[in-house]
Amino acid sequence: MHVMSEDLSNLVQPGRVHRQIYTDPAIFDLELERIFGVAWIYVGHESQVKSPGDYFRTFIGKKPVVLVRDAAGDIRVIHNQCAHRGSLVVANDNGNTDEFMCCYHGWTYHLDGRLKAVPLQHGYPENFDPSNPKTAMTQVPRVRSYRGFVFASAAADGPSLEEFLGHMATSLDDMIDRAPDGEIEIAGGVFKHAYDGNWKLYLENLCDAAHPIFTHRSSIDAAQQQSDAVHSDGTGEIAIRQMRQNGAPYSFWESQVGIWTYPNGHSYLGDYHDDAKLVAALKDPVFRDYIAAMEKKKGKAETRRVMEVRRWNSNVYPNLSFMSQFQQLRVVHPVAVDRTVVHTYNFRLKGAPEQMFRNTISFANTVNGTGSLVLTDDLEIYNRIGMGLSSAGAEWIEIGRGYRSDLPDAHGGRRGVNSTSEVYIRNMLDAWLGYMTAPTLSSPASGGGKYPAA
Ligand code: FES
Ligand SMILES: [Fe+2]
Repeated sequence: MHVMSEDLSNLVQPGRVHRQIYTDPAIFDLELERIFGVAWIYVGHESQVKSPGDYFRTFIGKKPVVLVRDAAGDIRVIHNQCAHRGSLVVANDNGNTDEFMCCYHGWTYHLDGRLKAVPLQHGYPENFDPSNPKTAMTQVPRVRSYRGFVFASAAADGPSLEEFLGHMATSLDDMIDRAPDGEIEIAGGVFKHAYDGNWKLYLENLCDAAHPIFTHRSSIDAAQQQSDAVHSDGTGEIAIRQMRQNGAPYSFWESQVGIWTYPNGHSYLGDYHDDAKLVAALKDPVFRDYIAAMEKKKGKAETRRVMEVRRWNSNVYPNLSFMSQFQQLRVVHPVAVDRTVVHTYNFRLKGAPEQMFRNTISFANTVNGTGSLVLTDDLEIYNRIGMGLSSAGAEWIEIGRGYRSDLPDAHGGRRGVNSTSEVYIRNMLDAWLGYMTAPTLSSPASGGGKYPAA
């Protein structure tokens, strides 16, 4: 099926979106081309490739790529395809190597993708030239790091990474600024999970403040019945507090949390824990030690400034979600119109007490682990949406909640005073429409969840 831009424009309307954008394989293919083939896509963190020869295998949309530090120490993102007969070259998730070798006929490549050696070279035609760039593992045209977070764009031209991130860069700053030594590193492995539903559902859930009280009811009930006393090592408390706080009443979500959106589809949800319930509780002895380490390295004023940044999930559209308070980062991989894979990583704050990283892992186990009592609820919802949208029920999906109370934001976006606003979904769909209908392949300039009052 050929999808026209005019057809696409009709699928996103004020306060509603057509279910086709979550179910149509032709639209999914177009998204790979017009969104994942154009936007700045998060590929990995520099700490995953610390030394020359370190590599990490990932995807830009569905296209396999390799993030690698080359012999000169520069970071590259190269397409993971052998120039001979097309095999995937790098099959391990990560590692360290002097060269990449294709295991089909043994072509080898330098770390920057240039062809190094070809077995049986005398057998190739006379004009075969191993130094021809066409015989390389080709490089993704634009690769940029924002303070260690590496993004790549398959489009040769377009807005800079800084323009693309805009004010959302402050959420990445918050990830890094929380480290007493001013550096963070990915540590502790990766959680991988998958669901039978569209990739867009994932970011649509991570700032959804209206769902925990229903979706996570079973763990809220269990946590509310549990006494504090049984969790003496501190890590169990993180789980209990988090699960209990998911049960906060609507009055809390509607008055004390907030949600912020920015151009290009980005957004973040405010923190939803007060000091007594904060999972990174200010009264907690480990957290006190951490604050002392921060004050020693950064001074009291800067420490106070950092601690006052209170954000929950930050989403960089279209494939990244992270949470600075517990150093979590999730990468969304679209696989098919009804299949999505998500990888979750944890960061260690350099210079912080080691117990802080244990708390990070505890938090990951609570909300991102494959056996998590919270994540499994959300996966069930994604699957149910996938199934629900395949029915012959309502064609249009409602995304209008909160539009009456949304306000303009000082940094070019719109803000939901009320965190139960669906402003962040409207904002992502504005970006979606901008990418999908752009006459030239470049990032959309508009955004901000505009919602004309009826
Ligand atoms: S396909 Fe890679 S060497 Fe032949
Ligand atoms: Fe959830």
